[in-house]
This record gives sequence, structure tokens and C-alpha cells, in this order.
Amino acid sequence: MVEENGAIRTLSIDIGGSGVKVMVLDRQGKPLTERARAETPQPAKPDSVINAIETLAATQGEFHRVSVGFPGVVRRGITETAVNLHSSWIGFDLATALSKSLNAPVRVINDADMQGLGAISGKGVELVVTLGTGFGSALFVDGKLVPNLEMGHHQFRKDETYEEQLGRATLDKVGEKKWNKRLEKAIASLEHLFNYDYLYIGGGEAEKVNIKLPDNVKIISNITGLLGGIALWRDEV
Ligand code: BGC
Repeated sequence: MVEENGAIRTLSIDIGGSGVKVMVLDRQGKPLTERARAETPQPAKPDSVINAIETLAATQGEFHRVSVGFPGVVRRGITETAVNLHSSWIGFDLATALSKSLNAPVRVINDADMQGLGAISGKGVELVVTLGTGFGSALFVDGKLVPNLEMGHHQFRKDETYEEQLGRATLDKVGEKKWNKRLEKAIASLEHLFNYDYLYIGGGEAEKVNIKLPDNVKIISNITGLLGGIALWRDEV
């Protein structure tokens, strides 16, 4: 895998309910290209999303391996849920399909898990939530990931889940003020549940957070979702 000049380039891909984003990272995980984005095709079936990725990848120059953050449960490269994409992802071997179309080895994990890998300090209990089309969540203990947490689909309040109360569709419906109030309640609820040392809030809508956050809660930039891609390959030099 080592190239002549030792420069391994990783294509990092973040598949979202509204946008697909890509960027190339160097061996240390620093960006080598500008982030490129395309609207998630609708209906968001595997074939059309893979086509969109191919088109984006072609703008990124050379790469040797690929990391993917996927908005659903992922186990051994297979996507098991995809609430905000399409039911045809259930049981789909994304790692193999993408590896064929991009002609490079591919590793896939949940999008919030990948975002977390780009954000955490590696010490203590760290929780990550992502606010976008869906509500993503990731849990780490001393840097070790507990994969596929899926808090988003658990009950939060008024018989609704975190995602139903805080997802983009609801933000658009209820407005930023109400959404921020709910988020404040969600943070309190998650704090009692996980007793985390740190909470990171990322995702496309994190910039709309305007409540006063406790000292151990930090907003992270949306690009973290792509930066976390390097961690998927840390077992290889
Ligand atoms: C999915 C999660 C994902 C989150 C953010 C949820 O609907 O179930 O797996 O992390 O959206 O994309």
C-alpha cells in the first residue's frame, strides 16, 4: 500500500440525508483537498448514492483507500439501517460495492461514530451527538468506540424520539428558539443517562445552537465528520 514517496492518501466520505461530502486526507489526517459536496440523490438508493460518490471522488485526485461515514447502523461493511435514506440499504454490502466502483479498499462505519473519532480527546467517557437530517450519537470510553449507539431513535419526551424532536424536519417546523430549548433538555437528559466527561455537538445544524453550554460541552465543526475518516485506518501504517 505504501506509495513510492510514502504518501498514502485517504478519501474520506460522509454520506448524509441531504448531502454527500468528500475530502482527501494525508497520512496524518490533514486535509489535502477542499471539501466537495453534492446533494444526496432522491430517492437515496445505493446505486444513485454510489454514482454521486464516484462523481465527487473524480474531483479529488489520487487516493489509495477510502473511509465512509454512513447514516445508519453498519456492521462489517454492511449497512443494516438507513432511516433517512432508503430501505434498500438494509443488508447492503456498501464496503464491497464501493470498493469495486472506486477501485480501492473501503472501510465503513456509522457517520456519528466517524465524526466522534475526529473529535474526541481519548480520555474518559465521551459522548458525541450530531444534529443534521437525523440525530446521530457516538460513545467512547478512553478513546474506544462503543459502535452504533443510535440514541436518535430512543424516546426523549412527549412520546417522541430525539430525532423526532431535534431532527432537521422538526427544526424547520418549530424554529430555532424552540429547537434550542429542546436541545437544552436533551443535553440534561443525556448527561443523566451517560454521566459523560465530555459531550461534543456536531453536524450541519450545530451552528444554530445558541444556548449557553456547560464547560464540558463543545460544538465541533461539521468537517470533523470527514477528518475522523483517518482513524479507520490507524491499524495500518
Ligand atoms: C441514524 C443514525 C445516524 C444519524 C445521523 C439517524 O437517523 O439512525 O445512524 O448516525 O441519523 O445521520
